Amino acid sequence: MKKALKWIGILLAALIGVVIIAIVVVFIVSNSRINASYDITVESVDIPADEEAIARGQHVAITRGCIDCHQGDFGGDVFIDDPAIGNLRACFLNRVGQTAEVSKAHFNCKSGS
Ligand code: HEC
Repeated sequence: MKKALKWIGILLAALIGVVIIAIVVVFIVSNSRINASYDITVESVDIPADEEAIARGQHVAITRGCIDCHQGDFGGDVFIDDPAIGNLRACFLNRVGQTAEVSKAHFNCKSGS
């Protein structure tokens, strides 16, 4: 009986040791992946601003329904205000083009201005 208890104790200790080693390995591997840094080259996108491109953009905005939600002047507005769905507001897009600060425009969209 004493021998059996001794072996169970050894097995339990070994099992706990394996679990601790597994936790440490997973922690080290995941930490190194979380902290990994990658070198990327940021591609610059040329945005055409000539008359042809603007006419093409207007055509796309009208035919793809962008103005249905963002309004004709891209000023943005509430396009769904239903308690069952929520209050959905399309962004004021002009600011995106004017300042190229998409995140700032996004903030304005989320805050409802
Ligand atoms: C069904 C309504 C709807 C239509 C149609 C629509 N949008 Fe939107 N758009 C939204 C809403 C709502 C948001 C805000 C999403 C958010 O805050 O996550 C948005 C966000 C945007 C944004 C992001 C602005 C920002 O600051 O992050 C751009 C750009 C945009 N729309 C362009 C377009 C274009 C281009 C079209 C047409 C091809 C279009 N949208 C059609 C509702 C619409």
